[in-house]
Amino acid sequence: MNKIDKLFRKEIEDIPPYISGKPIEEVQRALGLKRVIKLASNENPLGPSPKAVAAIKKNLKNINRYPDAAVWRLKAKIAKTINVNIDNIICGNGSDEVIILAMKAFVNKADGVIIAKPTFLIYQMAARAAEADIKLIPLTKDLKYDLKAMKKAITDKTRMIFIANPDNPAGTYVTKKELEEFLEDLPNDIIVYLDEAYFEFANHSFKDYPNGMDYLDKANLIVTRSFSKIYGLAGLRAGYGVTSKRIVSYLDKFREPFNVNLLAQAAACAALDDKEFVKKTLKTVEKGKRFLYDSFDRMGLKYVKTATNFMMVDVETDCAEIFERLIRRGVIVRDMKAWGFGNFIRVTVGTHEENAIFLDALKKVLTRKFQS
Ligand SMILES: Cc1ncc(COP(=O)(O)O)c(C=O)c1O
Repeated sequence: MNKIDKLFRKEIEDIPPYISGKPIEEVQRALGLKRVIKLASNENPLGPSPKAVAAIKKNLKNINRYPDAAVWRLKAKIAKTINVNIDNIICGNGSDEVIILAMKAFVNKADGVIIAKPTFLIYQMAARAAEADIKLIPLTKDLKYDLKAMKKAITDKTRMIFIANPDNPAGTYVTKKELEEFLEDLPNDIIVYLDEAYFEFANHSFKDYPNGMDYLDKANLIVTRSFSKIYGLAGLRAGYGVTSKRIVSYLDKFREPFNVNLLAQAAACAALDDKEFVKKTLKTVEKGKRFLYDSFDRMGLKYVKTATNFMMVDVETDCAEIFERLIRRGVIVRDMKAWGFGNFIRVTVGTHEENAIFLDALKKVLTRKFQS
């Protein structure tokens, strides 16, 4: 055995790496394709918020300086925008980072963590790295979080419960009533991590979708949101969590002082002001969703109705094969094998042109399969 191997922590050696959506350049290079469209990572198809781009340009001359370690201006802007107190906010290098901070702060080896199965993969990766005792609670038949079963799974050992609302990859959401029932009489030594990375999409479309900020005093709740989706800033990495002042101060102990870079802070501030861009994005996604639903209906394909900017589609055959065939035609989606859905792909809603290219390619790769 190589000496370095002895240094690796055995318990985490077999954690599978996170599989991200394939980058456009990689596919172009590997397959020699000129036109490649990426509908794989639930990004904003309209590009970044123009106001954010202007703020980045303006701040480029300042990048010889460290960013504001307190993230004060961005936190003040978030506080005003969503009507919470600045002391209740923690910012992260993407909302992903808040998941990791919470895990580091609250979960010791062998502590209980309850996670849905399947859901956003980072929860399990973080919990495994913490050597937590993980309980996986299957989604319901219609691919919704089973909050009743998750509540039943709580024991004295449970320290943290993750709820992605809406969920990724299913795209489904838990309702106000379901969340309220779940939070009622919950033991007070548990952190409920409510991940609202797609909040703006769900909030726009569904009246019974709960706003996590309304429940901050009902439990030890950490509610997180992202600048990667509606605001189009995935490449910059910025997100935030809202929770009690006490929890913020504790999470802050685990945070690197300069975790949100200078351009990300400036861009996120400006993006919060870009109401027009948000409106345009919501309109594009709503229209795109309807177009994709109608097309799948006509093709006779089943899909999961979504509260987000992506959806799962049943391609009735090995999804890895369909994924490969689509890539050869310059369309990157996600195959859902790693999540346990062998026949599903997940596609992000793109611009109308991208959606049409995807559908055209899908028809061809499915037809090819039926013919062969
Ligand atoms: C459910 C969920 N939570 C969190 C994230 C992470 O977002 P961010 O880019 O803010 O780290 C994602 C990204 O895809 C997600 O789907």
